[in-house]
Amino acid sequence: MNGKIGSVLVAGSGIGGMQAALDLAESGFKVYLVEEGPAIGGTMAQLDKTFPTNDCAMCTLAPRLVDCGRHPNIEKLTYSELLSLEGQPGHFRARVRKKPRFVDPAKCTGCGECAAACLVRNRGYFEADEPEPLDLEADQLAEIERLVQEHGSEPSSIVPVLQGISAKYRWLPPGAVRRVSEVLGLPLARVLRIATFYNMFSFEPRGKHLIKVCLGTACHVKGAGRILDTLSRELEIQVGETTKDRRFTLEAVRCLGCCGLAPVVTVNDDVHGKLTAGEFLKVLDLYPG
Ligand code: FES
Repeated sequence: MNGKIGSVLVAGSGIGGMQAALDLAESGFKVYLVEEGPAIGGTMAQLDKTFPTNDCAMCTLAPRLVDCGRHPNIEKLTYSELLSLEGQPGHFRARVRKKPRFVDPAKCTGCGECAAACLVRNRGYFEADEPEPLDLEADQLAEIERLVQEHGSEPSSIVPVLQGISAKYRWLPPGAVRRVSEVLGLPLARVLRIATFYNMFSFEPRGKHLIKVCLGTACHVKGAGRILDTLSRELEIQVGETTKDRRFTLEAVRCLGCCGLAPVVTVNDDVHGKLTAGEFLKVLDLYPG
């Protein structure tokens, strides 16, 4: 298949490394793509948007990931370290150490089920003779029992049970999450994985009223940034934080779908539009502690 002689090693499989590997592979070289981490993609895979165009990072990355994964001229050496490189142009010798993965890569589908069931990772949970205190009030415990009775104790009840706890306390206390894992017979890691998947669940105490300031383009142009700054200053909290009296939690979001009312701020389910920062501060009086 190769029209060219020799092979190339590309160290690092970020967006630059992947593109270099693809260009070299397309021109006929055999490419060894060496990546220290367990998967190719680099830092860009962890980003939502990229500077300065605000393009979706995954939209840029995904086609290259797929092409690198399928290209017959690219051999991916993930979880591998480049130990040494000797020689001269045209004749290098590289030593690469492949780290053990403890799974069979030919069979692994990346489902993550093994992590949830891992006896080593969940040792504290399985060692029943040394249980950590649940750190739950009696009423919280009773509420969890009630929710489990209402929704059933099958593993499939996990989301409604967590929703019930979240609706009652406005966050998921750590003790409650542990109790849910015990009652439903699920590993704690699995409960946490499900809970962290949904952004409706918070692991921090939240305020009675949730303020969302839209920073989408239409609202940004109409001064939403000033409203957010004013709220942050007046409530003495940053985005994502809750006031000391647990009255308000402040969040910034992108486009609430009612751009005609820009700038838009919602408090709980109420939509407030076309207000200045000063006017919006008065609106907060409608939401007591
Ligand atoms: S940009 Fe704010 S509602 Fe659309």
